[in-house]
Amino acid sequence: MLDPALYFDHSATTPPRPEVIEAMRLVMQESWGNPSSLHRWGERAAMAMERARQQVAELLNCEPEALVFTSGGTESNNLALFGVAQRYSTPQHLIISSVEHASVENAARQLQAQGWEVTRLAVNSAGQVDPQTLIQALRPNTALVSIIHGQNEVGSLQPIAELGYICRQAGVLFHTDAVQTVGRIPLDLAQLPVDLLSLSGHKLYGPQGVGALYVRPGVELQPLLRGGGQERRLRAGTQGIPGIVGLGVAAALAAQEVEPVPAPLPQQQPHLA
Ligand SMILES: Cc1ncc(COP(=O)(O)O)c(C=O)c1O
Repeated sequence: MLDPALYFDHSATTPPRPEVIEAMRLVMQESWGNPSSLHRWGERAAMAMERARQQVAELLNCEPEALVFTSGGTESNNLALFGVAQRYSTPQHLIISSVEHASVENAARQLQAQGWEVTRLAVNSAGQVDPQTLIQALRPNTALVSIIHGQNEVGSLQPIAELGYICRQAGVLFHTDAVQTVGRIPLDLAQLPVDLLSLSGHKLYGPQGVGALYVRPGVELQPLLRGGGQERRLRAGTQGIPGIVGLGVAAALAAQEVEPVPAPLPQQQPHLA
């Protein structure tokens, strides 16, 4: 028998909490309807899903309607990059860091193959992007900046408040892959200048195969999948209610443990040329 007390690989995945497992069991037994159905079974599933959306929103201090449920961090990152890119009829410029997860790096390579210019910002000896390098890399046709928040292999944290502020001043969308940090360190989207943020259930003691993309109201994306109008037309397909409910419970438990203090904004705003 494997002893979960001897598990030391929480950046790969985390064990689902007992409360998560129980909530998922219950929802599969009692709320298995299709949340788009208009009858009572559908309503019950939709209520469970919206409660989970509220729980994730409370963890991030954002509007529940701004959250799009996905199949995990990989899909959220792909939806952010391609969802922005597909708004343009001609290739533009994308900025990422040199330490992104494969789901951002490989999406960027795909865009590069389609003619996009991609700048990869180097990191310093602490594994961090220097905000000045972002200022220098921005171009008139930069459509998106995507910088990982917590690096999955070395654990370095990027200064997303500064980086997002620079993007906001420049009128460029800012995405962060916060898969490794949501539920582990405080993130306050009412304070942070972040337009798009990816998270994944299995990194915060929730289930695998579920995640979300935060899309700041007003930011327009093209969906990856063609199908029904679920998730405000941004993610077609019947939602996976057990996973979503498990993610909601994991988020609610994390919110009790992560101090709800806003991430500090930079004392000195970086100088914009
Ligand atoms: C930083 C980061 N981004 C994205 C992902 C992908 O998330 P998922 O496994 O939910 O697709 C991971 C998972 O290892 C990750 O660590």
